[in-house]
Amino acid sequence: MAGSSESVRHLVLVGLMGAGKTTVGQRCAQLLDRPFVDTDELVVATAAMPFDDIWAAEGEQGFRAREKVAVADAAASPTPLVISCGGGAVLDADNRRALRARGVVVWLSASSTELASRLVRDDSRPLLAGGDKTATLERLGAQREPAYEAAAHVRVDTEGRSVDDVAAAVVEEYRTWNG
Ligand code: S3P
Repeated sequence: MAGSSESVRHLVLVGLMGAGKTTVGQRCAQLLDRPFVDTDELVVATAAMPFDDIWAAEGEQGFRAREKVAVADAAASPTPLVISCGGGAVLDADNRRALRARGVVVWLSASSTELASRLVRDDSRPLLAGGDKTATLERLGAQREPAYEAAAHVRVDTEGRSVDDVAAAVVEEYRTWNG
């Protein structure tokens, strides 16, 4: 399949909530001139239900099952995509395998303080509801670090950096790893 779109890998962005996966991913999609897919949006579109309704009716477990289908569908796309994964998607070993098999996986990282400051006016994440966002992100970061490490080919630190700066760094890494 050399030279066909099948031989070109997806660019996959993983990392905690607030890491910039969606904004950076959209910018990368422009730079690479390819479609952008967000697994959270895919879950909502496929379920034809708002995110909050899915989480309320089916719980985190139901959401994760839907997320797994969304990850598999996105990874299986014959068209090379930029895929932004929900922050918990890589906790599942099948998801990690599917994404690594067809993509270059880039882990966007930042301190929990900076992640929380980016999400200060954001109430859309149920895992951050009603608590100290910095403390929750610190805890999730520690718990998830091995999964991000296992999923990613490369880590890009986003601390204090603009979307354009991070996107340029991500695309450079992508081109290196895509070969
Ligand atoms: C989650 C991250 C969210 C969304 C859901 C759960 C997580 O996506 O999938 O709220 O477990 O970290 P973003 O990382 O795009 O905010």
